[in-house]
Amino acid sequence: MNTSIRTAGLETCGWTEHAVASTRNTYPMQTSFFVNTRYRDAPGSPIRELNRFTHLPDMLSLAGGYPDPALMDAQALQRLLVGLPASDFAAALKYGGTEGEELLRLELAKLSATRGLRTMATDILTLSGSQQGIDLLARTVLNEGDTVLVEAPTYPAALSAFRIAGARIHQLPSDQQGLVLDGLEDALIQHRPKLIYIVPTFGNPTGRTLPLERRHALLALAVKYNCLVVEDDPYGELWFDVAPPPAIYSLRDRIRGAEHCCIYLGSLSKIVAPGLRLGWMLGPADVRRACVLAKQTDDMHASTLTQVAAAHYLRQELLALQLPRLRAVYGARAKSLACVLREHLGDSIAFDEPAGGLFLWARVRGVDTSHWLHNAIRHQVMFVPGNAFFAHPTDPCTLRLSFAGLHEEQLLQAGKRLARSLSSAEPV
Ligand SMILES: Cc1ncc(COP(=O)(O)O)c(C=O)c1O
Repeated sequence: MNTSIRTAGLETCGWTEHAVASTRNTYPMQTSFFVNTRYRDAPGSPIRELNRFTHLPDMLSLAGGYPDPALMDAQALQRLLVGLPASDFAAALKYGGTEGEELLRLELAKLSATRGLRTMATDILTLSGSQQGIDLLARTVLNEGDTVLVEAPTYPAALSAFRIAGARIHQLPSDQQGLVLDGLEDALIQHRPKLIYIVPTFGNPTGRTLPLERRHALLALAVKYNCLVVEDDPYGELWFDVAPPPAIYSLRDRIRGAEHCCIYLGSLSKIVAPGLRLGWMLGPADVRRACVLAKQTDDMHASTLTQVAAAHYLRQELLALQLPRLRAVYGARAKSLACVLREHLGDSIAFDEPAGGLFLWARVRGVDTSHWLHNAIRHQVMFVPGNAFFAHPTDPCTLRLSFAGLHEEQLLQAGKRLARSLSSAEPV
């Protein structure tokens, strides 16, 4: 944006030389000058960039990572808020403590316990979404130049948070079972990372799940080399037929010293509603304390109103009633998408059918999916090209498809459109 400003009197304000020089005359000023270089040079979220196409008429989007709004328990949440006693409602309009409302922390402790994560309510830090947890950790754990290990591919907003914190990112390969551990010890020795970030259960973007032995081995190595494991788990409850292995965080009692080396991030976004903006963090007291300080200069605390609504929702065990439905519907949609892809794209696409979560990760032979996307949009179907999920190097033939927001008939149409658009896409 270009802005004209007048300079009278500004020379005395103690600005840097550059800024003073910039203000001597009236001239079109680049306001990007004001922006901190880390933000100025950072790319925007490639997935959010795609949002502008999502609303085109008759578009079938497999791009967003969003839970289906039709599956959110809106009526129950509304009833809870409207039905709150006046005094509780008034209390929910006040400022709250940074760590979160006691009522919600108690419920989050119970929910964590159902996942094998033993914790006291007082050891929970409530977050404005688990995304905030990633950001707080990037700000409080990482110093400029520290290394972060990630699996490739991984969640792009985590990559952004680490980059903006000035970290170096080293990516490790993954296979059908998630992070491959073969090169991990060498990477720990060579790069001395401060933190390993991982989405081990029905991950974004791959939908893959790390088996128990790898979880154990990963944690043991992290402890050996004094590295913090950040386990991001928004999808763990969304299993279709078989529950996933225990969270890495729950293994910390089995390895000496591990209690100092793991963080768990949970989220209500995919299982209750993302608009609540609620997540939580479990982890060592020193790290949580630093995150509390960082949160105090950020949003002070998560919305008290949504914390109270979520606390009552959990207390009335409405989530437990909702989860079987979410698992059944997303499971059926995952199967439909897999069938449609097999039927209409055949050998040109390779993928594993997801066992949980919201995503199917695929690879097409000989096609750059960023190019294919242009053609796909013309055929009114969208996905996310895989490049977005890699630090460096990328795999341009990959893509992420989300089955969460479309019902079976729409998935069938989407599959046919993908096939038509692929057949006329340029090869790499
Ligand atoms: C892996 C991962 N972590 C964190 C988040 C952010 O979730 P929240 O809505 O809890 O901030 C997402 C959202 O898509 C995600 O996929």
